[in-house]
Amino acid sequence: MQPVISIEGLTKTYKSGLQALKPIDLTIRKGEIFALLGPNGAGKTTLISVVCGIVTPTTGTIVADGHDIQTEYRQARSKIGLVPQELTTDAFETVLATVTFSRGLFGKAPDPKHIESVLRELSLWEKRNDKIMTLSGGMKRRVMIAKALSHEPDILFLDEPTAGVDVELRRDMWNLVRRLREQGVTIILTTHYIEEAEEMADRVGVILKGELILVEEKTALMKKLGKKTLTLNLQDPLQTVPPELAEWNVTLKNEGHELEYVFDSNLEKTGVPSLLRKLSDLGIAFKDLNTSQSSLEDIFVSLVHRDTGAAA
Ligand SMILES: Nc1ncnc2c1ncn2[C@@H]1O[C@H](COP(=O)(O)OP(=O)(O)O)[C@@H](O)[C@H]1O
Ligand SMILES: [Mg+2]
Repeated sequence: MQPVISIEGLTKTYKSGLQALKPIDLTIRKGEIFALLGPNGAGKTTLISVVCGIVTPTTGTIVADGHDIQTEYRQARSKIGLVPQELTTDAFETVLATVTFSRGLFGKAPDPKHIESVLRELSLWEKRNDKIMTLSGGMKRRVMIAKALSHEPDILFLDEPTAGVDVELRRDMWNLVRRLREQGVTIILTTHYIEEAEEMADRVGVILKGELILVEEKTALMKKLGKKTLTLNLQDPLQTVPPELAEWNVTLKNEGHELEYVFDSNLEKTGVPSLLRKLSDLGIAFKDLNTSQSSLEDIFVSLVHRDTGAAA
């Protein structure tokens, strides 16, 4: 697939001396939804801000749609839409004026039809003549999205788009993201909600303490690291795990009513049939059983543990 953003050797050390980004190399593919996943303070906003030309990198180069973000800032930036994490709005302007002005900033000819369709899609059309200061927080966020889409960007950055937003806006936002993707817009979003990355993204990058520790196709990531858990609901609760089950490394849950076995579903020998035979030999009966796939959440927690030894 064609690259639309190429990041090479990017680092950022703030004036305070804090190194927010360790050397980062990353290629974003045209038309994909890329989720940058990481806990608070990991460097997600810094990375996005550098790529959008708002924060200067300490080292490294970034090329967006063929233009160097530093030497050809205007050309590069005109291809990019950014919905920042923080609300920054021109309080005294009307919705329509703000969004219209935003388009002009990127050197695009006026297009009232486009502005109207963006405002309608974001349920802002009825509020177009309202001053931004009179809007609710959710509506202000919608204005931020409208501004980012005003100049029809090919690349859209969404920094924590759904942190603290209501259900309706969250739903509208994802519908919008899906529609933009169908139009060929490349979307890069940051989130610390793993379910969001899992639901929306084609690829996921995990960032921890300024280091991009992993970039994977979401499905490959799930396959590679995804473990399954077998849960057996026991007929009679167990006080302790019988020594005969030691090799499966099972655990008791729910006051001994459940026996849990975590296994790698990609292995030829999962250990499930042999465990069930052993239970039968031991006369341990169960009423029911189920298996569940690990979520990206489990994967993330295990990655965080592996890399920092800290809790997620
Ligand atoms: N302007 C700044 N000056 C100094 N340090 C900063 C600045 N902005 C962010 N940081 C620090 O850089 C690190 C990464 O922050 P940030 O990129 O906002 O992370 P995230 O978006 O993943 O929560 C944090 O330790 C943060 O405190
Ligand atoms: Mg952030």
